[in-house]
Amino acid sequence: MTTSTTAASTAPAAAPSTTREAKKGSLATLRGLAPFLAPYKRQFAMAGVALVVAAGSTLAIPAAFKQMIDLGFGGAGAKSIQHVDLVFLALFGLATLLALATAARFYTVSWLGERVTADIRRAVYQHVVTQSPEFFETTQTGEVLSRITTDTTLIQAVVGTSISMALRNVLLFIGGLIMLFVTSIKLSSIIIGLLVLTVLPIVMFGRRVRKLSRDSQDRIADASAMAGEILNAMPTVQAFTHEKLEASRFGASVESAFGTAMRRIRARAFLTMLAIVLVFGTIVFVLWLGAHAVLAGTMTGGDLGQFILYASIVAGAIGALSEVMGEAQRAAGATERLLELISVKSKIESPAQPLPLPPRADSGAALSLQDVGFSYPSRPDTAALQHLTLDIKPGETVAVVGPSGAGKTTLFQLFLRFYDPQSGSIKLDGVDITRLDLHTLRGAIGIVPQDTVIFSADAMENIRYGRADASDEEVIAAAKLAAAHEFIERLPQGYQSFLGERGVRLSGGQRQRIAIARALLKNPPLLLLDEATSALDAESERLVQTALEAAMVGRTTVIIAHRLATVQRADRIIVMEDGRVVETGTHKSLVELGGIYANLAALQFHHVQAGH
Ligand SMILES: Nc1ncnc2c1ncn2[C@@H]1O[C@H](COP(=O)(O)OP(=O)(O)O)[C@@H](O)[C@H]1O
Ligand SMILES: [Mg+2]
Repeated sequence: MTTSTTAASTAPAAAPSTTREAKKGSLATLRGLAPFLAPYKRQFAMAGVALVVAAGSTLAIPAAFKQMIDLGFGGAGAKSIQHVDLVFLALFGLATLLALATAARFYTVSWLGERVTADIRRAVYQHVVTQSPEFFETTQTGEVLSRITTDTTLIQAVVGTSISMALRNVLLFIGGLIMLFVTSIKLSSIIIGLLVLTVLPIVMFGRRVRKLSRDSQDRIADASAMAGEILNAMPTVQAFTHEKLEASRFGASVESAFGTAMRRIRARAFLTMLAIVLVFGTIVFVLWLGAHAVLAGTMTGGDLGQFILYASIVAGAIGALSEVMGEAQRAAGATERLLELISVKSKIESPAQPLPLPPRADSGAALSLQDVGFSYPSRPDTAALQHLTLDIKPGETVAVVGPSGAGKTTLFQLFLRFYDPQSGSIKLDGVDITRLDLHTLRGAIGIVPQDTVIFSADAMENIRYGRADASDEEVIAAAKLAAAHEFIERLPQGYQSFLGERGVRLSGGQRQRIAIARALLKNPPLLLLDEATSALDAESERLVQTALEAAMVGRTTVIIAHRLATVQRADRIIVMEDGRVVETGTHKSLVELGGIYANLAALQFHHVQAGH
């Protein structure tokens, strides 16, 4: 009986990762958790005490029962009545002690589970957010998420219940076994043999049921992953009129989950029946043997009662232990994956002894590149930048133009030190950027990326992301500078308007102006604009253009642009192709040169004229 109830109550809420089951770790890897458990020695000691007290009182209860049966029902008279009272009182006392100790154990152990899991989640996340982009190129964000959520849940189950379950059941098993033999050596030998025969099939079948229940969780996870992707692409789905198709794909996936669930439910129903028949069968059989022993006078009724209770304690302990083993193994696998994740070292790190930036004049930062060569780690054979030498003076505005794939965005990635070049060096204000603290370097740079990112928050908070301690007035000033103030004011709740997930409630141009305001709020000495005006219509481009020109005053600006209107006013234009600088000069000098830029310019002006 005990066996089947433990099997039911502790079957873990299986996590939706298909790779998880494939990798069962060896139990030794659980030792990797030690640093996370170490701070809580006191709580572990408390849990241990509660555990021993609870196990002790559980083991004492059958003995009290024996007293009750033998003396209470065996004899008669005043002495016996008194004794019955005493025994019942003792029994109630034991139960109270058991209740208190069990509650204390549950409380401390659950606290430990939650606490340690929270610590691990924080540690993993904190570690992951410092990783360089290379990490995210090779690791799927979904995988990181599933490690933080489901793998830690497995560990929580182990720390929060399995360890205490294991200890408790080891104590109960050993104690119960000793008491069994103390009660009757002959019956003990018989019942041990029978228990092995009955508990084994139940345990094995229980494993199968748990595996099926994980399978069905996985099916549900598959279905929801699919639904998630489709829901994010709703406009595309509807534009291609695939609603019916998608609905039936999801339906099929839900039906498959139902099928798996039914297999689990059938197995479970069978398991319940098997467990009850086998365990009751054993108990009835041994009771029958015991009853004969009582009739023959070789055993008292109390001994028999006590014996049966100890036997069920031992049987329950065996079942629970096997259960715990499986769970611990899965947690070991989870631990291994989490520790793996925590031990990944970021390719890009601040130096141990960072140099400070020299004091800077008001005019902005100086930037110089010396023979820089770079290829992305995922494409080591293709040079994204080669032999790039460039000197940008404080306060200068440099425009970078060139065909798509020329390496313009890559250049910005290197400025921010998202990657390190394989050869050459990059210096900010004369200091090699690898010698700077990453926060010093990135703090000096404001960037408006090619793909703007809008967080699911209101307009105020989205702009404030540029500088967390900025006041509302400063945010509004930055928005005005970026020509964003007017449209934000016209939103239903002004600056408090929620912009939707990924900024879906804004147009491309509006998103871009929010991003520009965000960068301007940071007020950085070096401003990097990656096609910052590409999504703007002519009118707002003119607005933003004016704003940007105002913003460029007193700082160094590098601006990547396709539209030559944006580029013309730059102090210097750099034309890139295949990771190289092929032409540099002013608009006028480059047009006169008659090279790539002159071609681009001719095309653009042709377009502009055709467009108007
Ligand atoms: N993360 C990346 N991993 C590998 N290759 C990349 C990565 N990002 C860009 N590239 C490649 O590097 C080259 C330069 O890209 P990029 O700098 O984005 O060009 P653009 O001038 O259009 O901004 C392209 O060939 C592109 O395919
Ligand atoms: Mg680009």
